[in-house]
Amino acid sequence: MSGHGEAQVMTATKSGPLRGRADVPGDKSISHRALIFGAMAVGETKITGLLEGQDVLDTASAMRAFGADVVQHGRGNWSVHGVGVGGFREPEAVIDCGNSGTGVRLIMGCMATTAMSATFTGDASLRKRPMGRVTDPLALFGAQAYGRKGGRLPMTVVGAAHPVPVRYTLPVASAQVKSAVLLAGLNVPGQTVVVEPEATRDHTERMLAGFGAQVQVEKTAEGNVITLTGQPELRPQVVAVPRDPSSAAFPVCAALIVEGSDIFVPGVSQNLTRNGIYTTLVEMGADITFENPREEGGEPVADLRVRYSTLKGIEVPPERAPSMIDEYPILSVVAANATGKTVMRGVKELRVKESDRIDAMARGLEACGVTVEEDEDTLIVHGMGPGNMPGGATCATHIDHRIAMSFLVAGMASQKPITVDDASPIATSFPLFEGLMTGLGAMLVRG
Ligand code: S3P
Repeated sequence: MSGHGEAQVMTATKSGPLRGRADVPGDKSISHRALIFGAMAVGETKITGLLEGQDVLDTASAMRAFGADVVQHGRGNWSVHGVGVGGFREPEAVIDCGNSGTGVRLIMGCMATTAMSATFTGDASLRKRPMGRVTDPLALFGAQAYGRKGGRLPMTVVGAAHPVPVRYTLPVASAQVKSAVLLAGLNVPGQTVVVEPEATRDHTERMLAGFGAQVQVEKTAEGNVITLTGQPELRPQVVAVPRDPSSAAFPVCAALIVEGSDIFVPGVSQNLTRNGIYTTLVEMGADITFENPREEGGEPVADLRVRYSTLKGIEVPPERAPSMIDEYPILSVVAANATGKTVMRGVKELRVKESDRIDAMARGLEACGVTVEEDEDTLIVHGMGPGNMPGGATCATHIDHRIAMSFLVAGMASQKPITVDDASPIATSFPLFEGLMTGLGAMLVRG
């Protein structure tokens, strides 16, 4: 898993209609935060619906290393006995965050204003990703970071013994950076302010408020101005994790492009900072109905009914990127099955995800017979019309779960099978993907 174990070759073949119910796993972003905030509260936080993907399990181990008592009671059912803000103990060993950028960046934030040091590493994918975007603002609090060239892991962070509050304007639209700064601000007297010119996922703000911190969000001409009052006593919570809209996108997009499909995906988060993919699919002509809208675990959710649709290419507005940043790989597969071209601009952040996702999708789609254009910040896919993608290629997944799932979905609707060189990273975010998709009627085989 996460690039440590043996590669798992997997092949998807043109599939019959997908039918039935897709119970997708818990939200990855919220699962990480439930464990981390639980570890910083005093007392026992109870979590249901936790995603038991490797990324989140690595965060659970990290929280144990910092002194929290993290226990699994049953499937998705966990408790965290927290040590309080500023109560972390120095870990005895290196913290391995596996494949998870969210895990490592948030955890760096929450230890950076406590007088201790911790050394972080990860798998081959995570060791390539930039940490300077987090350690630069943490330095303003007084923390120091010593890593490899280019701010890469392994990296030791020395927390500030006498941290000072910070006002920081995000130079990139990143919820991980925003969250790292807010988490660091928890153990600092006074007010820490983050200005985000473009709105990014808001789970940290929502959940910190739920745990009893004072967090104010003001919409101004500069963007969202988020003010956190430091040194709160976080109160333990009962957290019901909603289902992940990013994971749901895989069965949803598969149903849209596999002829005759009709599936039901219950309880998917429709948080406005996360649902850009659904807006985009509907603009392309997708037949998706959002039934029974309600609130679950503090998040707006809906049940999705999704039917096979003939789709047209569109221009995705660049300002929508933060609300669907993880969904461009699967969108580019849908785009290849649409009529006309789909233009995705303002997407350069994709280059620093688990892989360079613009490059990974462009090379894989080209190998499958699709015409693609790209530049640093843009991906354009020339749609071939429903079911016309030739396929017949092996695509490299670069230790990236979303690239692996995207090409497997592509193979369910292409003329010849599509193979991925390594499906094992799927376990980081969607461990039951294979069984869920084959249960709906997808033709997936190992090898
Ligand atoms: C996440 C934020 C996003 C996203 C990642 C999860 C989070 O990353 O791509 O999968 O939980 O905060 P960035 O903050 O780097 O955009």
